[in-house]
Amino acid sequence: MRAKQVTVGFGWPIAAIAAAMMVSGWSAPSAAQEDTGKKRTADVVYVATPHDVVSKMLEIAKVGKDDVVYDLGCGDGRFIVTAAKKTGCKGRGYDLDPARVAESKENAKKAKVESRVEIFQQDIFEVDLTPASVITLYLLPRLNQRLIPQLEKMKPGTRIVCHDFEIPGIKAERILKLTSREDGVDHRILFYTIPLTREEP
Ligand SMILES: C[S@@+](CC[C@H](N)C(=O)[O-])C[C@H]1O[C@@H](n2cnc3c(N)ncnc32)[C@H](O)[C@@H]1O
Repeated sequence: MRAKQVTVGFGWPIAAIAAAMMVSGWSAPSAAQEDTGKKRTADVVYVATPHDVVSKMLEIAKVGKDDVVYDLGCGDGRFIVTAAKKTGCKGRGYDLDPARVAESKENAKKAKVESRVEIFQQDIFEVDLTPASVITLYLLPRLNQRLIPQLEKMKPGTRIVCHDFEIPGIKAERILKLTSREDGVDHRILFYTIPLTREEP
């Protein structure tokens, strides 16, 4: 299938968002951190996806009640809480930041979906993704790229939907632009399915 391309590219304001996301959080764990067993810190700072973009992404992934949605770096849990509330599906959120984990649990409780939504304080690079049928991502391209070995273990037909940033080297099936009513900014949504299709060199 040919990707439905839009001409947003990697320009303003996505580049500005990327810069903001990189300012204080973007770093791989250093060898020293790993050697000393020092606490693992987040690879990217928290920036929330506007709710209307969340809804559009869930719609594009055709999330339904039989789905199991994983949000990797779940922030306040809005993807999985919204999906569970709207469709009755199950959701799992993963975040390293304990404040985000607590906020996600609180939001699941407020939305009365805590029986279907689980939140874990865990490094996304150590999660078995095979039970998921939908993955939502709002991470920088390099982090999306690091997830490829885990994504490739998932069942054929599993959907992946990314906010703003692509999975480098992988061909998106759909790319679309949405101007959020919440922040007035253009957002990109990129859609992939398993098995992933490599871009031609
Ligand atoms: C840009 S925010 C996206 C939040 C949410 N998915 C959304 O779109 O509203 C990225 C989140 O990933 C978390 N994060 C970064 N690196 C992580 C890692 N290695 N494991 C788990 N969570 C991580 C951050 O704490 C942050 O909450």
